[in-house]
Amino acid sequence: MAQRASQPRQRLSSSQVSMDKLVSLCKRRGLVFPSSEIYGGLGSTWDYGPLGVELKKNIKDAWWRSLVQSRDDVVGIDAAILMHPQVWVASGHAEGFSDPMVECKECNRRWRVDEVIIHNMVSDSKCPECSAVDSFTEPRQFNLMFKTFVGPVEEGAAQVWLRPETAQGIFVNFSNVLNTTRKKLPFGVAQIGKAFRNEITPGNFIFRSREFEQMEMEFFVKPGTDDEWFRYWVEERYHWYKGLGIREENLRLRPHGDDELAHYARGCYDVEYLFPIGWSELEGIANRGNFDLSQHASYSGKDMSYFDEETSQRYTPYVIEPSAGVDRSALAFLVDAYDEESDPSPTSGQGKEEVRVVLRFHHDIAPVKVAVLPLSRKEPLADRARDIYAELRKHWVVQYDEAQSIGRRYRRQDEVGTPLCVTVDFDSLDDSAVT
Ligand code: GAP
Repeated sequence: MAQRASQPRQRLSSSQVSMDKLVSLCKRRGLVFPSSEIYGGLGSTWDYGPLGVELKKNIKDAWWRSLVQSRDDVVGIDAAILMHPQVWVASGHAEGFSDPMVECKECNRRWRVDEVIIHNMVSDSKCPECSAVDSFTEPRQFNLMFKTFVGPVEEGAAQVWLRPETAQGIFVNFSNVLNTTRKKLPFGVAQIGKAFRNEITPGNFIFRSREFEQMEMEFFVKPGTDDEWFRYWVEERYHWYKGLGIREENLRLRPHGDDELAHYARGCYDVEYLFPIGWSELEGIANRGNFDLSQHASYSGKDMSYFDEETSQRYTPYVIEPSAGVDRSALAFLVDAYDEESDPSPTSGQGKEEVRVVLRFHHDIAPVKVAVLPLSRKEPLADRARDIYAELRKHWVVQYDEAQSIGRRYRRQDEVGTPLCVTVDFDSLDDSAVT
């Protein structure tokens, strides 16, 4: 039978990717499920399925390899999520980690003030949800940290917060790491872990949720060398995404204006990605000066300074912080990989073309690395294929698939971005070669 050539088609640009199609692909193929779905779900919380967990693990492994394993000036830690409440007083989060919020008295929907202003462009008096005019309450500061209690009594003294960033776990361990590793400046401490923010307006799938994972590194440097190291980490982090296949046209660096800088920051760049919702922050790289170590020294009464043996000077190091989101990175990798192709061989065979999804992941990011596909599920072919599968799975995440036609099986793997498929056919029995 003559094969029809598939139509050459340009790759979808990231802004053409529909978030709805992506959400549905993620659900269909076990990447991401709505959380607690059998109870109707809990807004903006997501569970990672069998392939999603591999995707996230690959992102975290690539980050850890690049920032910790392949360098001798960065070490890792894993700090507790629940920390002494004074940590958040010292860091400024107890007082300042808040968004001004208004509530529409008609529909009771809550908004961040900046969202309402952007929606209305000039006036801030119309509710974007129900269009009621002049129905907003006065703006009120809303702290984004989740409160909980340690022990059986729900009283003020027992109250703690779920960490809204992993960074503070690194700062409070500065002296522990310094004393146990005998590192000299400049050196960094890296951590990957969950963070929690009671976002007023979470949404856009896994872009902004209330529970997410961060990959953060605090790189401690001598004051005066901070600008140079800041530039170094901005470049380094931008190239990390490119090296993992993110297309250059979807990636850019944006310096923060003075009015955007966080209270602790001396300078900040965002690595931005062109998401389907437009250019948005993927990662922030900040020069935090000595704000955090100084604050913790003053609130804890403990010395957080560094003695420089070369110059016999004692000072509080400055810190450069690349801070990335695992979930937001997963979304960027998914959007960037997402493509559609016309499929010339649908079941009808009447020249009707179907569109099929192909994820073009970098091989380090792909959840499944190899699929083993015997041409027939009968012995001895299946037996040979299972031996190959057993050998390969010692090294990589490998799938074995013998159900349905070989074409369908290839399409299933294309849809989740598997870079290699191994077909075992009847010739394989004679020449021990596979396709
Ligand atoms: N320690 C600095 C810090 O936390 P941030 O800009 O607030 O800085 C860093 O957060 C990164 O964490 C963001 O660039 C984003 O990738 C991720 N992130 C922050 N809030 C998030 C949320 N609600 N949902 C998903 N990811 C989030």
